[in-house]
Amino acid sequence: MNFTKIINLKTLTVGAIAGVMAFGLTSCSNAPNSPGYEYMPDMYRSPVLKYYNTYTLNGDTLQSAMKPVAGTIARGCMPGIPAGMDYEKAGTYLKNPILFSDAVLADGQAIYGKFCVHCHGDAGKGDGKVGLKLPGAPPAYDGPLKNLPEGKMFYTITYGKGLMGSHASQLNVEERWKVIYYVQKLQGHTPGQPMAADSVKTAEVKEVKKEDKKNKI
Ligand code: HEC
Repeated sequence: MNFTKIINLKTLTVGAIAGVMAFGLTSCSNAPNSPGYEYMPDMYRSPVLKYYNTYTLNGDTLQSAMKPVAGTIARGCMPGIPAGMDYEKAGTYLKNPILFSDAVLADGQAIYGKFCVHCHGDAGKGDGKVGLKLPGAPPAYDGPLKNLPEGKMFYTITYGKGLMGSHASQLNVEERWKVIYYVQKLQGHTPGQPMAADSVKTAEVKEVKKEDKKNKI
């Protein structure tokens, strides 16, 4: 009995080895680009989807990256500057949408200390360590830039100007407006208040004052 058992075991083992070898041999192929038989081929072969396309696979509709629906803006991707607005128009129409507060100003100061101070200097005089090395140092905020409107600042921070690069990838829209409040402080203005250079607002203020006088008389 023992003898037959051994034979049976041997036959089984030999059979198994022969089977594996046979599979191994037949799974190979002469075609240089063929991988032969594959175990669970879908693990190796995922469908190659090209972006901006819709695919149908086994009855399912698959979407690769799709173009945004025309006329819509993705959540959190509101552009800071409307399409077609140039530097001059930005100076006239673009206003700071962030409500002013001391906390906002403190944020602006912190941003300034990280992204601007090395060129513009502590007091915004254009005498930062890097600023002084530039072929043309940045102008002082309370000098030539004293009456620069906030919209133009936003445009420059977003797109860059001259030797100053765009900061759009470092600062999101909110951060750009926050730092502008701090720049206005360095310009010598009261941030959050209409600037003297803002001719429309100044004119309005003057008219109101005149009316006040009339009312008193
Ligand atoms: C690499 C140095 C550098 C850095 C960093 C830098 N600036 Fe400037 N900035 C300049 C230079 C140079 C100019 C002058 C550009 C010109 O008028 O040609 C300038 C101009 C400006 C102006 C005037 C723009 C105008 O429309 O005339 C503002 C406002 C300003 N920078 C704000 C900032 C703020 C805010 C930061 C930080 C977020 C910053 N800058 C970072 C170099 C720099």
